Amino acid sequence: MAFGLRRAFRAWPILLAAGLAAGCERANPPEESAPRAARDVGQPDGWADELAMQNPTDLNPDPNVLEIELEARVADVEILPGTTTPAWTYNGTVPGPMIRAKVGDRVIVHFKNSLPAETTVHWHGIRVPNEMDGAPGATQEPIATGGEFRYDFVLKDAGTYWYHPHTDSSAQVGRGLYGAFVVDDPNDPKELGDDLVMMLSDMGLDENGQLVPSDSGGNFGDLFGREGSVLLVNGKVLPTLKVRQGKQQRWRIINATRARYYNLRLRNHRFMRLGGDNGLAARSEDVYNLIVTPGERADAVFTPADPPGTQNVLRWVPTERGYGSTYNRSSEPMLAIETVADAPVIPEPIPTELRAIEPIDITNATHRTLDLTIAIASTVEMGVNGVPYWQSKPFEINLGDTEVWRIVNNTDFSHPFHLHGYFFQVLDENRVPEWKDTVNVPTKSELTIAVRFDERPGAWMYHCHILDHAEAGMMGHLVVRDPNAPDLGAPPAEHHHH
Ligand code: C2O
Ligand code: CU
Repeated sequence: MAFGLRRAFRAWPILLAAGLAAGCERANPPEESAPRAARDVGQPDGWADELAMQNPTDLNPDPNVLEIELEARVADVEILPGTTTPAWTYNGTVPGPMIRAKVGDRVIVHFKNSLPAETTVHWHGIRVPNEMDGAPGATQEPIATGGEFRYDFVLKDAGTYWYHPHTDSSAQVGRGLYGAFVVDDPNDPKELGDDLVMMLSDMGLDENGQLVPSDSGGNFGDLFGREGSVLLVNGKVLPTLKVRQGKQQRWRIINATRARYYNLRLRNHRFMRLGGDNGLAARSEDVYNLIVTPGERADAVFTPADPPGTQNVLRWVPTERGYGSTYNRSSEPMLAIETVADAPVIPEPIPTELRAIEPIDITNATHRTLDLTIAIASTVEMGVNGVPYWQSKPFEINLGDTEVWRIVNNTDFSHPFHLHGYFFQVLDENRVPEWKDTVNVPTKSELTIAVRFDERPGAWMYHCHILDHAEAGMMGHLVVRDPNAPDLGAPPAEHHHH
């Protein structure tokens, strides 16, 4: 894979700022003190042990098929040290198993619901066949307690994805039901660093580790979106990551919270953002902080710049997401970063050009406006164009059509807008081009996206990924019809209220 003519050596300023320049001078430094190249050393021993997630067992000998069992069940997990939380889990852990395969692989998931409630599994961002999308009211009936479902699909796109329930989703995700799903592209440049998946979540727990009720805060909880009191990285409270100065890591960050926005900052560091929802963006981008809204993902290169033997901490910083969302709040530590004593190494240059992304041709597009709305009466009722999900009619779209959606947000809160089944492009020249499935629409603003409904006819959802908002009605669906197969994509007979 070629990265064009430009390769920016943007890692150098970090190295110089960190006071390494002396070792690089031409004044014949002693052999042993000359810094080595990052590519010649590994990560520190056990660097990511505290961030390990469960690996599922592959039941299929074919190297191009990943076949696993996934059981949703209540299990005791230790979140707060010395306490036991009866979490809702996939295969007994929070997060559930990390599913990892490569582009083109087939994935078969034998799912069993052992929860005391019905559920489904939605493969967030993955372009699955319609009947595999796990969306009750659109693609499948909820799976009852004791029920099973076989999910089976081929992975079309590299990227960082995740899975979660789509039934009573705010409550179920809040209790711990989510897992990471990474699709590797074997052609990705190696110099982007050693891969580290970080699933960020939060949980509402009391001091004994018991889950607070999932409807805590009543109408206000619906309106503000419920943020859990305890911040977790891969299910752990303030775990430690070991790093070596100059040795890059490729972080794949997933926001699996119900409502919390992440704004990640690390003192003395910047990040090189590579992309997110659908893998690499067109170009890498040097950023001071990483913002990841609920449902979204961010891939970034982290180049450790602290001197050997020092400690730092990755912090959650309050982010403006509407009324009162930053008021009287301070930053919180999430991940301890320990720079080991080993000698610093010289970071690899990070390519500037990452991927060719053609703009979607919108010449013949159908235009729509989706106004995200909130009505406050005796309850909080949210919707799209003033209509809550349970009263909404699907958009009718012909297979092959391109649509341009103006997404308007005049409410007092920001909303991360998510579309199932298709990636979209945000029409904004100030953004690095990339394919997305979730995008933040800040309070009192609007943005425009372009989508090509070019394949996989059927019914697909769109909604705010503040799950409390989705449950309060800020959700809708559309039906992509194949004119040559008119009975495909027929909407289901009944809607399920959440
Ligand atoms: Cu991750 Cu319909 O959602
Ligand atoms: Cu919202």
